[in-house]
Amino acid sequence: MAGRVDGKRILVTGGAAGLGAAFVRRLAQEGAHVIVADVRDVVGRSLAAQTGGSYLHLDVTSEREWQQAMSWAEQELGGLDGLVNNAGIAASTGAEDIEGIELDDLHRIFAVNVDGTVLGCKHALPLMARSGPGAIVNLSSIAALIPAAFVIAYGASKATIAHLTRSVAMHCASRGYGIRCNSVHPGQVRTEMMNTIIDRVGRETSMGLPAAEQVFLDQIPLGKFQEPDDIAHAVLFLLSDEARFITGSQLVVDGGMTLSN
Ligand SMILES: NC(=O)c1ccc[n+]([C@@H]2O[C@H](COP(=O)([O-])OP(=O)(O)OC[C@H]3O[C@@H](n4cnc5c(N)ncnc54)[C@H](O)[C@@H]3O)[C@@H](O)[C@H]2O)c1
Repeated sequence: MAGRVDGKRILVTGGAAGLGAAFVRRLAQEGAHVIVADVRDVVGRSLAAQTGGSYLHLDVTSEREWQQAMSWAEQELGGLDGLVNNAGIAASTGAEDIEGIELDDLHRIFAVNVDGTVLGCKHALPLMARSGPGAIVNLSSIAALIPAAFVIAYGASKATIAHLTRSVAMHCASRGYGIRCNSVHPGQVRTEMMNTIIDRVGRETSMGLPAAEQVFLDQIPLGKFQEPDDIAHAVLFLLSDEARFITGSQLVVDGGMTLSN
């Protein structure tokens, strides 16, 4: 039986770990050739080997590395059908409320989350437009939709990604590229990133880890943290032809968290 993204060539940034690794596995199971693109070369290479795809070292903040990645995809795979701008960071070195934020932290978070997504769209689009119909998925967050005073740089970067996604969708439609662009907004998944945030809240408020976990959990009406595959299913759908009339949309996968905030 044909897979849902059979034969599609899809690049996943930050694909070596966390949510990105779940996307790589799920897309490969459904027949895609997945390019794992990350700065964690050893784990990234191993995942690509396990899933029958390719690995590329790609720091998403480097315009030169994006250009090299697109040249590689054109030469080695003959084109690109899908892009998941997933690489992202949340951690700041100090407090991240509006009075405590350090400019260096703001710039670091925006460099990976926003510059990385802009560069990905900018450099993938010409190749994707030459390759036929395609789709881009940008990882935003519920942090784009719900204000959180303790992560203002991260929240602002994710809100920027949601807005950017709609502009890219409009750009592609007006050029007749046949490329769709949507954002996915996960709620809370226990990856390295989320664990670091929960640890930090536990330490900074002196409430400790179990109580901090409970505070985060209490915000989810469905009562559980999401699993990486819950987000992977949404990404798979948006990259598949099943979503061929969906562009500029925001797919929220949060166990109802936005309902109660
Ligand atoms: N985990 C959650 O609950 C959650 C919630 C909402 C949104 N998100 C978003 O989902 C995405 C993935 O998050 P995650 O939880 O898997 O994070 P993670 O920290 O577990 O994994 C991030 C991956 O991105 C890679 N990466 C970091 N900087 C990079 C760079 N400059 N170039 C290339 N790769 C880089 C890392 O090496 C790692 O493999 C992020 O954009 C994040 O903001 C996550």
